[in-house]
Amino acid sequence: MNIAVLGAQWGDEGKGKIIDLLTPNFSIVARYQGGHNAGHTVYANGRKFILRLLPSGILHSGVTCVIGNGLVVDPQALFAEIDEIGAAGVDVTGRLAISSKAHLILPYHKELDVLAEAKRGERKIGTTNRGIGPAYEDKIGRRGIRVGDLSDRAPRQMLEDAVRQNVEARNHLIASAHMDWRQVLDELDRVWIRLAPFVTDVSVLLHQAMRDGRRIMFEGAQGTLLDIDHGTYPFVTSSSATSGGICTGLGVGPKTIGAILGVAKAYTTRVGEGPFPSELLDQMGQRLRDGGSEYGSVTGRPRRRGWFDAVALRYAVRINGLDALAITKMDVLDGLESLEICTSYRVDGEPLHDFPSEIGHLARCQPVYERVPGWSAPTAGVRSFDALPAEARAYIATLEQAVGIPVALISTGSDRHDTILRDDAVAATWFALPA
Ligand code: IMP
Repeated sequence: MNIAVLGAQWGDEGKGKIIDLLTPNFSIVARYQGGHNAGHTVYANGRKFILRLLPSGILHSGVTCVIGNGLVVDPQALFAEIDEIGAAGVDVTGRLAISSKAHLILPYHKELDVLAEAKRGERKIGTTNRGIGPAYEDKIGRRGIRVGDLSDRAPRQMLEDAVRQNVEARNHLIASAHMDWRQVLDELDRVWIRLAPFVTDVSVLLHQAMRDGRRIMFEGAQGTLLDIDHGTYPFVTSSSATSGGICTGLGVGPKTIGAILGVAKAYTTRVGEGPFPSELLDQMGQRLRDGGSEYGSVTGRPRRRGWFDAVALRYAVRINGLDALAITKMDVLDGLESLEICTSYRVDGEPLHDFPSEIGHLARCQPVYERVPGWSAPTAGVRSFDALPAEARAYIATLEQAVGIPVALISTGSDRHDTILRDDAVAATWFALPA
């Protein structure tokens, strides 16, 4: 069975670790959206790796990693990442596949990102300034440049025209820009030389693999609440981070996705602007930031922190069709006297059970909390459910009840092995781990 692992909150849920942990049970790890705005942290052999564009299975030799058409690829960022893991002895030769239909992030996209944010002023989104939004704008505007457009097979004149028109349009928009389109084209020719060996028809590759009985893990970046359609628009990223993005971002049908695991922290964080009903602006928020090292892995910005929001999680279950949850950073809650779980909202005094579809409505939501006792014995490094303090087990049970799906995995530390596989039967069915 193929599975999907994706973010159930606002990104930074710890997907990298979970994907890396499950990778040995799969032949292929395939990313379907986003770009190097992602920062998936994986600890392996005592080293910390932050993967941005490369799928989180890349540290396992023998596993093929796929960058789907749904991504936007900054070639220089990709090469830097390949070099970085190469220096640590990880070779991607022959096991990295990049879709010829993926769109390219070009130098002017980053400038446009910075410019757009500056123009928004007070209403800024808080983007990662990586050119993600402008590259997707060009894709939807049907003027984007795709990886395969650089190939010898593509009509050269079309590429030249597209680069010239795009650069000229950008020079017009950015007063200080005097970009020479011929230089951009020359640079793309150099990019192609290094990129070409990886470029393929990803949909064909995945379908062939499935025919051969190989298992695929679909990897989401960012999170449900940052999805372009279902997230807290406009404070979202520009891609489809929810499970629907798997089909469009890789060229596979919905029936190829066997089970979907949503990853969520035991509390909530978000980077950037936008409403956040369970946000903690007090000492407790400070504590979560310090205890969880809540700083963005890409931008270094401090993340906003809050209590676990079961309303948002129920929404993630509905939008993605989640089968189970992986709860991460459980150990960050160690030592608290009591904890709150946001189980519903109130708006203008009225109770609200479902996550609102309109941002103004969400901004007015007040969290309704259920208080549960904390635990004093540490969960850090605990590897079996029964060894957790009783209050921590009760916390998980309350989350399950509030969200409505089982918690299959609990992460109790950054190491691969600091993980609880909750239920052997679930593990056997979904992750092909021995029961
Ligand atoms: P963009 O993706 O750079 O356009 O940023 C749009 C919003 O998504 C901003 O609030 C970012 O902070 C947020 N964002 C983008 N990527 C990630 C991520 O990987 N983790 C958390 N937040 C992200």
